[in-house]
Amino acid sequence: MSPSLIQSIVYGLILGGAFSTFPCQASEAYREPWRPQLHFTPAKNWMNDPNGMVFYDGEYHLFYQYNPFGDKWGHMSWGHAVSQDLMRWEHLPVALYEENDIMIFSGSAVVDWNNTTGFGRNGTPPMVAIYTGHYTKKPLQNQQIAYSNDRGRTWTKYAGNPVLDIGAKDFRDPKVMWHAPTQSWVMTVAWPVERKIRFYASPDLKTWTHLSDFGPAGSTVGIWECPDLFPLRVEGPAWREKWVLIVNVGSGAPAGGSGCQYFVGEFDGTRFTLDSSPHMPQTRPTQALWADWGRDFYAAVSWSDIPKSDGRRLWLGWMSNWEYANDVPTAPWRSAMSLPRELSLRETSRGLRLIQQPARELKKLRTRRHRLSSATGSEANTWLRTLQTKSPLLEMAAELDASPGVSNIGLRLTTGAEESVVLRWSAGGIMNLDRSRSGKVDFHPKFSGAFESPEVSPGRRHRFRLIIDTSSIELFDNDGETCVTSLFLPMGKDRLFQLEGAPSSLKVKKLEIWELRSAMP
Ligand code: FRU
Repeated sequence: MSPSLIQSIVYGLILGGAFSTFPCQASEAYREPWRPQLHFTPAKNWMNDPNGMVFYDGEYHLFYQYNPFGDKWGHMSWGHAVSQDLMRWEHLPVALYEENDIMIFSGSAVVDWNNTTGFGRNGTPPMVAIYTGHYTKKPLQNQQIAYSNDRGRTWTKYAGNPVLDIGAKDFRDPKVMWHAPTQSWVMTVAWPVERKIRFYASPDLKTWTHLSDFGPAGSTVGIWECPDLFPLRVEGPAWREKWVLIVNVGSGAPAGGSGCQYFVGEFDGTRFTLDSSPHMPQTRPTQALWADWGRDFYAAVSWSDIPKSDGRRLWLGWMSNWEYANDVPTAPWRSAMSLPRELSLRETSRGLRLIQQPARELKKLRTRRHRLSSATGSEANTWLRTLQTKSPLLEMAAELDASPGVSNIGLRLTTGAEESVVLRWSAGGIMNLDRSRSGKVDFHPKFSGAFESPEVSPGRRHRFRLIIDTSSIELFDNDGETCVTSLFLPMGKDRLFQLEGAPSSLKVKKLEIWELRSAMP
């Protein structure tokens, strides 16, 4: 028996307790305090980045950085789940284990439709995972592959690994796509300390040729990790696409700690060139753009192989921050993913911006709807006080107009005595999320606080959507132009919204609240 097979069997026995009830776990297991009901979490133990997201044969696959043995970072392996609707996830056994002193770091997966690897069997295309091997006994990271012939249920590491090795200590997180114009695979991979993204090409996922590098540019305070590269449609009647390069940064994001920046430009099969449209003047060609202004959106990457008939670019991020991720007081799991989101680009007064909306499948979880239109803010507050929402899982869509001269509006979500999360918008275009009195905040000095988003459209009109889960809030402002993702850990069970600022001079054009049903088994 090979050492890897023995190791897999041993792991299987150790993990038997955790996974013996697959695929239907007892539902009490998913009703612990703060257990997200709308967002993906592992049944138990530590999770960080989403990995290997790919759609194949009716299933969305979500792999993730996982510690099978504990609730802190370590022994990195690829956990695995599948979904048919992006909301309800079925847990599957760990796909790729740490083995021979090599941890399985972040990476991607593709369907090898043309069997360029030769891993396919009986005319069925293989799924191929491309990940970073992180060596625990020497300072080395290189790129490796593994394949599956059974819809991702079991995986074989390629005997010829590594497939790309530059002898670097930090060189990771390969994101691979099929580039049709050049009929080749293109890998986008981070050279973290250099603040560079490297591009490579391959005919078969096994041999790689260096194409070009991008960076340093934009935000260079933190190391660069988890890149992604994809074409994206610009909203509007005319068909127009630009290329988006995603670069997650380990620190130095606007709200502090880790965050997700992006660049808009062109990719010609060899090189990514940053846009220098009139809105992105040459004088500031490397201005950083941020996908999310909250504290808790990191390592976001997109799904591969979404069918053309669907046509969406979908992604999600890890809903935590490296500054305190290991200390968030949830058990027996630690960390959740953001909601899956649909992406597009929009031409705004500031230039092209990444637009995000919750995946439309979320609507399937809506149950009771409460609706108010054409009211003053004071009337809305009375209405909100009498709402008998039974669910802590809520979606709100609001359209508000402040009177001339009123500079600030606010929305407070009270969850208990002296306990709330507050959103504030200034007429100058700054949005602020304050979680300093939002419940449990004292587990880490960096968790508490108020965080600003300076890129909200200025003016008196406010239009936004909020998704509230048991321990998170996601704001999609101005039809997805500004996103703010934030954890909060309420101690109380109340869920009361109230408008603040000058409610009597606030016109509520529309306020819709849906109670959502849990997506847990
Ligand atoms: C990002 C990251 C990746 C790495 C993984 C290890 O959060 O540091 O660069 O592959 O986590 O778990």
